[in-house]
Amino acid sequence: MKIFFLGDVVGRSGRLAVTKNLKSITEKEKIDFVIVNGENAADQGVGITEEISNDLFKCGVDVITTGNHVWDQKETINFIEKETRLLRPENLSNNSPGKGFGIYKSKNGYRVGVLNLMGNVFIKKCENVFEAATIFKQKYKLKDDYDFLVVDFHGEATSEKMAMGHFFDGKATLVVGTHTHVPTNDIRILINGTAYQTDAGMCGDYDSVVGMNKVNSLNKFLKKDSTKHFPAEGNATLSGLIVECDTSNGLAHKVKKFIYGGELSK
Ligand SMILES: [Fe+2]
Repeated sequence: MKIFFLGDVVGRSGRLAVTKNLKSITEKEKIDFVIVNGENAADQGVGITEEISNDLFKCGVDVITTGNHVWDQKETINFIEKETRLLRPENLSNNSPGKGFGIYKSKNGYRVGVLNLMGNVFIKKCENVFEAATIFKQKYKLKDDYDFLVVDFHGEATSEKMAMGHFFDGKATLVVGTHTHVPTNDIRILINGTAYQTDAGMCGDYDSVVGMNKVNSLNKFLKKDSTKHFPAEGNATLSGLIVECDTSNGLAHKVKKFIYGGELSK
C-alpha cells in the first residue's frame, strides 16, 4: 500500500505539472492513494475553485487538503458542502462550511482517513490545534475506524509541526506539514512508526518567492511599487513524499521524498 502526498499546488504552473504528470507517476510508483494540498491552486495563487478541484480529481487525486487560504475563492464556501473530497482545516470554528476529516477508499480497497489541521503560530486565527487533535485522537483509532491515517498540518512554525508529529506518533501513518512551500530535509519514520516531514514543499515554480512572482515579491519587501501579487509562471517542481504502508498495523514501513521536474530537480 503506497500513499503519495504532494505539497501545496501553486497557480497555473503547479496545476499543469500535477495534471500532466500524476497519472504516469502513480503508475510507475504503483501508488494506491493520492493527496494534494490545493489551497493555492487558483490562478491568483490563493484558494481553489470547483473547476480546479475537478481537474485534480480527474487526473487521479483522491483528496484535496487546504489551509489558511481555503475561503479566498468565494465559491468554495458553497461547493465544499457537497464535495467531501475537499477538506478545510478541522480546527476552524464549528459553524464553518465543509469538513476537516474524511474516510476514503483507496484504489486497492483500504480505508484511508485524512485529517486536515491548521497551526496556531504565525498564521490565520483558528481554534487550538492541539485541543482539536486531542479530541480527534479520543474519537478515532487506527485500524478500527480506518486502515491508514494521514494528517496534513498546515502551519508556519516548525516546532508546532514537529510537536504534532510526535503527538500522532504510532496513531497515524503519516504526519506531514504544508504551507511554507519549501521541502524540509527531515523525512523519517518516528519511533512509534509514523512517517513524518515538517514540510512537503510545493508543486510550483521555485524560481520565485514561495511560488509567487519574484520581482513583485522583492519589491514588496523593498517597499517599492508592486503590482498585484501573482504566481510565478515557469516550470513547476512537484514536491512531496511517498509512504509505503504496513497493512498489518497501518503504520509506515518506508518513506521517501519525491521531487520531480522544474528548478529543484536540476
Ligand atoms: Fe497556506
